[in-house]
Amino acid sequence: MRITRRQFVTSYTAALAVTGLRKHRLRDSPSSSPSRVIIDTDPGVDDALALLLAMRSPELKIEGVTAVAGNVPLELTLPNALRMIEIAGRTDIPVAPGASGPLVRRLVTATYAHGENGLGGAVFPEPQTKPVAQPAAEFMRDRLRKYPGEVTLITIGPLTNIASAFNMDHELPHLARGLMMMGGSLSGGNITPAAEFNVYVDPEAARVVFQSGIPITMVGLDVTRRTTLTEEHVRTLAAAENPVSQAAAKIARNALQHAREQGFLVGPNMHDSLAVATFIDPSLVACKDYYIDVETAGELTAGETLGYSPNAGDLRRTPEKEKEAASKLTIRGSAPTLASTRTSPVIRDQYAPNAQVAFGVDSRRFFDLLIARLSGHG
Ligand code: BDR
Ligand code: CA
Repeated sequence: MRITRRQFVTSYTAALAVTGLRKHRLRDSPSSSPSRVIIDTDPGVDDALALLLAMRSPELKIEGVTAVAGNVPLELTLPNALRMIEIAGRTDIPVAPGASGPLVRRLVTATYAHGENGLGGAVFPEPQTKPVAQPAAEFMRDRLRKYPGEVTLITIGPLTNIASAFNMDHELPHLARGLMMMGGSLSGGNITPAAEFNVYVDPEAARVVFQSGIPITMVGLDVTRRTTLTEEHVRTLAAAENPVSQAAAKIARNALQHAREQGFLVGPNMHDSLAVATFIDPSLVACKDYYIDVETAGELTAGETLGYSPNAGDLRRTPEKEKEAASKLTIRGSAPTLASTRTSPVIRDQYAPNAQVAFGVDSRRFFDLLIARLSGHG
């Protein structure tokens, strides 16, 4: 059964009361703390703050940052990533250049939200640090093979680099600890009514990732829409006198200004920081299992993420009945046309969840964490 937006919204409010907060879905890691991560990113205003948050978080051992085209072209996302590691004083972290465009589509950017330079117009010096020579997909393959079962991919841009790595080496999804994704939505899109930006830009790549078998936590618009930046956040950042908080305040102030100029009454959402924060503290979100697939053929809906669940809209089933419903659920697509040779719209015979989807968030605790870490107080 494919759930409707209304069912989803009703169900997550009810589920918070019924199930409480649940842990996200990553394989257990032998090395508990700090955890090895690779951050794949397209900075991007919220990417920039997410990177700074990650570099200020002792729970993370950042194996590398990989840049991808998305919010702005790669010629800007790569130097923007390098700028962030310089600001944080973390030039020990390798930054690898990734894909300059989606797998099979032309690049669509989001300069309307991130400004022409990707940082909301906030200007920083040219980075002195050079990227590593190895392309992002190869860099990922090497790190995942070097530390089997230990590395989590935190993806906060289009999924082109990840899909390229998985296409190059089919064992990688099984060697990773998991994937924490900012992307997708079960409650409508932000670039089209159907699609969230990161999945919209490269739906084919997103489909490869969701079908790869890697344990996924999807932190999508369902929760990131509730992470609105305010003037007060900016004032707190500006008051802390260290390079990271000053840079974060500058980017955030520009982003707020940019949003105002576009006529928005509220500030931008900190989508990407929520994915990083959820990795640091899984109790910030409530999750629910889904089989997620990605629309790639739709004329209007490409990039839409569809969530299949046996208990959509009916959260009061007993665990036994839920199990029974799951065993009967098939993954059904659109009915075949008269011209089609297909006889059945069933895509998969048997439901099996491939992602935990965040549907509830404690926004206040999220911002407490984000602002404290960026200010140097957390
Ligand atoms: C996502 O799209 C980008 O514009 C943001 O950086 C974020 O990763 C939100 O839809
Ligand atoms: Ca991003």
